[in-house]
Amino acid sequence: MSGAALPDADVDLIIIPIAQDQLTAAASRHDARLDEDVKSAIERGEFRAKANEVYVARPPATGWKAARIVFVGGGPRAEINVERLRRMAVSAAQVARHQRRPRIGWADVEPGTLSAAARIETIAESFVLANFENGVHKSRDGNDFFIKEGVIFTSQDAAAAVANGAAMGESINAARVLINEPGNYLTPRVMADKAASLASVPGLTAEILDEKKIEELRMGLLLGVARGSIEPPRLLVLKYSPAGAPANHTLGLVGKGITFDTGGLSLKPADGMERMKDDMAGGASVVAAMRSIALQQLPIRALAVVPMTENMPGGRATKPGDIHTGASGLTVEINNTDAEGRLILGDGLWYARQLGATHLIDVATLTGAIVVGLGKITTGLFGTPQPWVDHIRVAADRAGEKVWQLPLYEDYKEQLKSEIADMLNSPGRPAGSITAAMFLKEFAGDGPWAHLDIAGTAWAEESKPWQPKGATGAMIRTLIEVARGGLP
Ligand code: BES
Ligand code: MN
Ligand code: ZN
Repeated sequence: MSGAALPDADVDLIIIPIAQDQLTAAASRHDARLDEDVKSAIERGEFRAKANEVYVARPPATGWKAARIVFVGGGPRAEINVERLRRMAVSAAQVARHQRRPRIGWADVEPGTLSAAARIETIAESFVLANFENGVHKSRDGNDFFIKEGVIFTSQDAAAAVANGAAMGESINAARVLINEPGNYLTPRVMADKAASLASVPGLTAEILDEKKIEELRMGLLLGVARGSIEPPRLLVLKYSPAGAPANHTLGLVGKGITFDTGGLSLKPADGMERMKDDMAGGASVVAAMRSIALQQLPIRALAVVPMTENMPGGRATKPGDIHTGASGLTVEINNTDAEGRLILGDGLWYARQLGATHLIDVATLTGAIVVGLGKITTGLFGTPQPWVDHIRVAADRAGEKVWQLPLYEDYKEQLKSEIADMLNSPGRPAGSITAAMFLKEFAGDGPWAHLDIAGTAWAEESKPWQPKGATGAMIRTLIEVARGGLP
């Protein structure tokens, strides 16, 4: 960080953001010769400063240390929020990786709608995100070049914001790596170990419960899903309780950890089934959020519970029509073994309450129906009471992530009725995401609880300049932001 004049900056590449409606004004701050270059690019129509548009210039022949200047468009200034800025910064930083330029700088000259702290945090996070290592299993042709040093040129005091942003970026990258791992590499046991090592940061404790402990806890729903696999289930518990944090509030994060979802005996169609390696994205997200919460030393008590298992159609697998009893005592008729997420989350939510969580949030790639309803853009949000849901909505907004609330009217409960057990696990097609959330609600106890359905948002089908194909890390920032806002 420094307030030094840009031409003197000793980096290989400098990124200068420009809002669409500030095109000429923004260019004229640095060097008249550079302005000429940008102006003629604008006149030629080569650069319009549309959102995430990149224009690469050579700096004037004398007086500049950097080898390249990257102008990145922001669209209209009024639209430059956290999400836009993140996309701009990641897109521009990709130029450095492609051109193999190790030291990059960001000129903090475009305020958008953001505070200086929010801008700096976002740029620090984005530089880390831009360094994501994709294709770790490729023996050749991977992008093996990484940015070594990122600098932010700003007049503001930036140290704390840089540290927070970097912690968030690193945690998100770590979650993305886990989510992208194939099922044969990331079994429940491996996921538990990897998650525990991600959690080995000061202030955070990790405990892995094996199948025997899970049996002692009588988690018949988690065990019922695990029956079809030769891989044993695991349950990860993370705890964070810093000195001085309010003792009467504990945030409880519960994440779905299905390391592969074949559907079980209610087998999924072959087409696209390979994507079901990401069915532990919710679990990875809560682990990543806990890591960042601890790294940022947020003054709040938090715990996480991640039930992990494969959903396989082995010889001992749960059969449609079987009944299993969860740790809470509720009995469930399994009429479709592919509705397994709600089963393991049922035991997970109950356990998080047992451990003392006062405010619950679960995160899960839960229903195909949410993809139909909200697409791959928006995460489904459910919960009660309304102030808790609003708290999460506000946090998502600050984090630059899109969520949309769906209702939990009692009338929907009708669909969950079973003739012979307390509930059915698969209540049919109508309102599939809502009835799944209604099912979870039965295990969440009386306190505040919210559910985030990330089936649409956890995975990017195509790569974008700001987001590689594959795991997105959706909702990690939102969870961190919830913790930051304190509990209501
Ligand atoms: N993991 C899936 C949900 C999913 C679908 C995630 C598509 C990502 C993309 C979940 O376990 C599942 O199979 N849900 C079923 C529930 C149904 C049987 C009630 C679904 O949505 O079809
Ligand atoms: Mn399923
Ligand atoms: Zn699933």
